[in-house]
Amino acid sequence: MNKAPVKHEILIVANPGELSLRAADEFVRLAGEAVQAKGFFTAALSGGSTPRGLYTALSSDPYCKRVPWQEVHLFWGDERCVPPDHLDSNYRMIRELLLDKVPVPKGNVHRMPAEQEDHLHAAMEYEQLIRSFFHTEAGGVPCFDLIVLGMGEDGHTASLFPWTSALEETNRFVSANYVEKLGAYRLTLTVPLINQAAEVLFLISGESKASVLRDVLEGEYRPQRFPSQLIRPVNGRLLFIVDRMAASKLMRI
Ligand code: 6PG
Repeated sequence: MNKAPVKHEILIVANPGELSLRAADEFVRLAGEAVQAKGFFTAALSGGSTPRGLYTALSSDPYCKRVPWQEVHLFWGDERCVPPDHLDSNYRMIRELLLDKVPVPKGNVHRMPAEQEDHLHAAMEYEQLIRSFFHTEAGGVPCFDLIVLGMGEDGHTASLFPWTSALEETNRFVSANYVEKLGAYRLTLTVPLINQAAEVLFLISGESKASVLRDVLEGEYRPQRFPSQLIRPVNGRLLFIVDRMAASKLMRI
């Protein structure tokens, strides 16, 4: 089935270092605008290796002084179902690279409780946290100012992996998604929630992502095979910051 290409912007940069700095610029810009407009900023952060450079930049000069950390609320886009001090934990990675180095209030750090044995309960608990934060019971729309995403070589994003049940979710905001190829559950924000964001920022680096980025952006619409194609913000901005190697197979740029 074909679908109109998703409206998106793409910034191609020279290398991973430049990618991290441009992503940090975007984070600082959005945080400043949101805090000025409504007094706080909400961002859901990604795991994986590509965004590590972003977190390192944000915890270093000059960026760390440019972010109004007291008004920043951090969430997670997905999490492995392990304890928060586990080597595989996205929370642990972001704590080490960012949270331990910037003055974001502990109460503003909204970690996914993915260590819970009952994954469904953990997903529901995080969903309730999001609903309460955004006052959805009063009709509020859970609109994150920023959702940072990566993209796997298989076209997954967050923990929305090909052919997994979370891809079918149309109502819930958080899913406990069993990923057969990993033999594990993951907690993940769902497509309906991600697509409500004011800005979705993909960070993609390296030659190993060149084919999948071309397939996602320029290939047939096959969202079960390429879940990143499901990310189509309803009203928000979709921005890809990619390095030259990842962009090397794009035809329409
Ligand atoms: C995770 C991430 C995952 C990641 C992609 C890309 O928990 O691993 O949320 O979706 O963004 O796998 O990872 P890299 O940036 O390491 O290629």
